[in-house]
Amino acid sequence: MGSENLAYALTQVVHNFGAAFALGGAVFALWPIPRPEFARVFVRLICLAWGAQIASGILFGLTSLYYYGETPDLSSVAIAALAIKVAAAISGFLLAAGYLIRGREWNRVSVRRTFQSLAALAAIALTAAAFLRWFS
Ligand code: HEM
Repeated sequence: MGSENLAYALTQVVHNFGAAFALGGAVFALWPIPRPEFARVFVRLICLAWGAQIASGILFGLTSLYYYGETPDLSSVAIAALAIKVAAAISGFLLAAGYLIRGREWNRVSVRRTFQSLAALAAIALTAAAFLRWFS
């Protein structure tokens, strides 16, 4: 019981900070004023944050498999919420990685739209997280 709770709690720590960086990093790059000079630093952190979300999300499932031999039996609402989170996390990771690879060629408007999209994806994932939690 102790080790199981510890495993979930440590996974949740990574997952919570990943969520905070994914949304906070994108918002901070845009508000109160856009900071294009720091865009690459922020995107690197945001890319790491989305990667952490995917890794810790998988770890949640693996922890359940290890301790119970199966993943939780989810309702259809929870499955939809999880699918939205996975889609948001993959899109956020690819968008941030795309910026890191090709972003030097993008103009200011494209850079601003990238950060707006990253913030929107994080907000969608956080909203889905609440439905996953309470409709499980
Ligand atoms: C591959 C992607 C993801 C997977 C597989 C995943 C999976 C999970 C799982 C299994 C839980 C525990 C649910 C429960 O307590 O019943 C959880 C919680 C949570 N996830 Fe994710 N997640 C993913 C992406 C994200 C993203 C991108 C965000 C936000 C940016 C996010 C935010 C949260 C939050 C805030 C919680 C805690 C909810 C609560 O206990 O109230 N997740 N996630």
